[in-house]
Amino acid sequence: MTRKMSAGWMVLLVPFAAALWAQNADYQPDPGWQAPPQAVAKQNPLANRPAAAAGGKKLFARNCAECHGEEGSGLVKKSSADLQLPIVQTQSDGALFWKITNGNPDRGMPSFSRLPELQRWQLVLHLRTLQPARPPQ
Ligand code: HEC
Repeated sequence: MTRKMSAGWMVLLVPFAAALWAQNADYQPDPGWQAPPQAVAKQNPLANRPAAAAGGKKLFARNCAECHGEEGSGLVKKSSADLQLPIVQTQSDGALFWKITNGNPDRGMPSFSRLPELQRWQLVLHLRTLQPARPPQ
């Protein structure tokens, strides 16, 4: 009897908990992982080609979604960044490009320097689409 009841609770609670855990809204960036000023100031060469974001979306699905989720909202179990958070989105294109390029292997973010440079900039374009309203820079 009690066993049956707890199984019932599991059916109700597991999907609910999974939805809560799916997003890593409490993500705190590593204060020691900062792009140097020169990298921060770099402009996205694709900035006026927003259509290139579509390619970035595909690259994201292939290379990033396993850890960050399709929507980029991060996964608690991977301690991966919620890329929609202002704490990420307020960083410059150059800073995000630098982080994608170098990674932070100690905290689980691999380096993507193996991807061609323009693909990494496409990924930055795509990251900007994860938020409906882009915060002021
Ligand atoms: C193996 C898991 C994994 C994969 C794959 C991965 N990431 Fe990450 N990513 C992480 C983790 C974990 C962090 C948080 C690192 C930290 O805590 O400093 C992170 C952090 C980041 C950040 C920095 C957020 C901040 O703190 O400013 C960006 C940007 C990012 N990832 C983009 C990407 C992109 C784009 C891809 C695909 C090209 C990708 N990541 C693939 C795990 C991953």
